[in-house]
Amino acid sequence: MAERETWATRLGFLLAAIGSAVGLGNIWRFPFITSENGGAAFLVVYLLAVLVIGLPAILAEFVIGRRANTSAIGAFRKLGRPGWWFVGAVGVIAAFWTLSYYSVIGGWVLRYIGGSVTGNALAAPEGYFGAISVGLSSIGTHAVFMLITIGIVALGIEDGIELATKVMVPAVVVMLVGLAVFAATLPGASEGYAFFLDPDFDVIVSNFGSVLPAAFGQALFSLSLGFSVMITYASYLGEDDSLPVDGFSIAVSNTAIGVLAGLVVLPLLFAQGIEAGGGGPGAVFVAIPTALAELPGGELVGQAVGIVFFGVILIAALSSAISLLEAAVAFLVDNYGFSRLPTAAGLGAVVFALGIPSAYDTAWLNWFDGIGVTLLLPLAVLLVVLFVGWVLGRDAIDELRTGSTSGSLASIWLWWLRTVVLAVVVIVVALNLWDLFATPDTGYYFIPSPLR
Ligand code: TRP
Repeated sequence: MAERETWATRLGFLLAAIGSAVGLGNIWRFPFITSENGGAAFLVVYLLAVLVIGLPAILAEFVIGRRANTSAIGAFRKLGRPGWWFVGAVGVIAAFWTLSYYSVIGGWVLRYIGGSVTGNALAAPEGYFGAISVGLSSIGTHAVFMLITIGIVALGIEDGIELATKVMVPAVVVMLVGLAVFAATLPGASEGYAFFLDPDFDVIVSNFGSVLPAAFGQALFSLSLGFSVMITYASYLGEDDSLPVDGFSIAVSNTAIGVLAGLVVLPLLFAQGIEAGGGGPGAVFVAIPTALAELPGGELVGQAVGIVFFGVILIAALSSAISLLEAAVAFLVDNYGFSRLPTAAGLGAVVFALGIPSAYDTAWLNWFDGIGVTLLLPLAVLLVVLFVGWVLGRDAIDELRTGSTSGSLASIWLWWLRTVVLAVVVIVVALNLWDLFATPDTGYYFIPSPLR
């Protein structure tokens, strides 16, 4: 019995963690960021980022969570370092910021389910995206998505979503593989593969200052790092769970789903004559419906596949959105005894308001996304790495060894965290600050582009 219970907890943990990791970051963000940053060369840096920084960092959050056995904010107090509570707080703020525009994209996904039902999304994909992604329409769907998220968190029915995740992850894989096979049959797709898979290293060298932060930011974002979410999940893990095995499984499956989305979206874009860097935040929303409209079997087949595809993406987006809101709600409920329903509603309303500019104009969305992923996120991860590497130190090694056979690996990991990971994250933050404040050609990015 005890053994079965451990299994259930472990499976629950893996599902929750994967449900949080797999989301719009993989399916919406990864393909267009890859396209904007040189394709295959970006992919190489991204994979390196997952391996060199993402995996060690996810282990760092696991170590904090399981050792403290409590959610993020309390964790630092419980580990006897109450002064470090702000690390969790920075994570909560970053989560809040991210959710504001994540919900806008979630709203578009909702809208595309409707657009697949009516067929309008497939009839004229580019025009459809242009119409629903801005203004009142986008604010409206943003509101609906936020309401659903608030409802789930307020009622505390995340378990249901966890169950849905069980279905969602395999469904995402099946849908993406099917679409990838279809994309391969389209004329022009091969240019997409060449762009995505055949690296031109000059691109990395000459765009070092932007490719590096973009790839590392995407890696951290996609793995749900920095927002203390993995800390909280890992608090449910037992002594006999192997953290390296779990971290590795999550990193590999999450990365594979992103790459798979790239294998769908990039060939589709090229086949549709939208060349490298084109598409922007609309890439997946234009590429997929265009392809759906061309599926063999006629309109109804395309519409039906569209409903299922965007339905699955909606679950992926919701499972991430609820864990973003939950981070902030749990903080207030656990620390200040707020009650759950009004807290979820109140915070949700604030997040909604913060997302209105992003819903109104995609230039704002790009700005929020840029600040969030390439600045707030690496900063939050930097604090976690500092804490585990230099404050916990040997305790962290003990914790990583618990339940795992990899004895000497733990020492190498800590050393790596203290040196390489720390240095790279500092460089990424520095490059971003430089980009943000000093490069006139990106236009003093700290001023939102709509105001420039
Ligand atoms: N990883 C999620 C995605 O790819 C986005 C995300 C980032 C996230 N940080 C998170 C989700 C924290 C939940 C919790 O879509």
